[in-house]
Amino acid sequence: MTKILFVCLGNICRSPAAEAVFLKLVEAKGLSEHFEVDSAGTSAFHTGDNADPRMIEEARLRGISVPSISRQFVKKDFDIFDQIVVMDDSNFKNVTKLDPDKEHAHKVFKLTDYSSNSELNFVPDPYFGGQDGFGLVLDILEDCCQNLLTHLNKKN
Ligand code: 4NP
Repeated sequence: MTKILFVCLGNICRSPAAEAVFLKLVEAKGLSEHFEVDSAGTSAFHTGDNADPRMIEEARLRGISVPSISRQFVKKDFDIFDQIVVMDDSNFKNVTKLDPDKEHAHKVFKLTDYSSNSELNFVPDPYFGGQDGFGLVLDILEDCCQNLLTHLNKKN
C-alpha cells in the first residue's frame, strides 16, 4: 500500500483536484487496494471548506468528482504518508519547513517532476484567475498524475 498526499496552499483548488484525478486513474486501473490518496493545504485559510465551485464544475465536465474538504497539512502527515506531492516551490518550502532535520525529505517532490512538458515546473494557482485556469490545471494534473502512477506502479 502506498499512501500519497497532494498538497497546495488552500486545499480547495489544485490538491483536491489532484487527489480526485489520481484516484480516478487508480480506480480505472483496478489498483484501489494499492493506493491511499488524500490532500491538504499548507494554510488553514479554507479549513472545513468544500473545493472551489469553479474546480468542482470544471472537473465534473471531465467526469471527475471532487468531494474533498479542506484541511491543513500537519507535521504528523510525514509519519502517515509515503509520498508528499506539492504543486509549487512555495508549497515545497512550507512543507519542508516542518521537517527541519530532513528526516522525510526523500518523500517530498513537485507533481510537475512527472510532467511530459519538461519546461513546466509548477502547477499554477488558478484561484485569482478565470475559469480557463481551472481547465489548464486539470490538463496538467491529468498528465502528471498519469506519469506518476505509471512510475509508482513500476516501482511496486
Ligand atoms: P489552491 O488555491 O492552493 O490551489 O487551493 C488557492 C486557494 C485559496 C487561496 C489561494 C490559493 N487563498 O488565498 O485563499
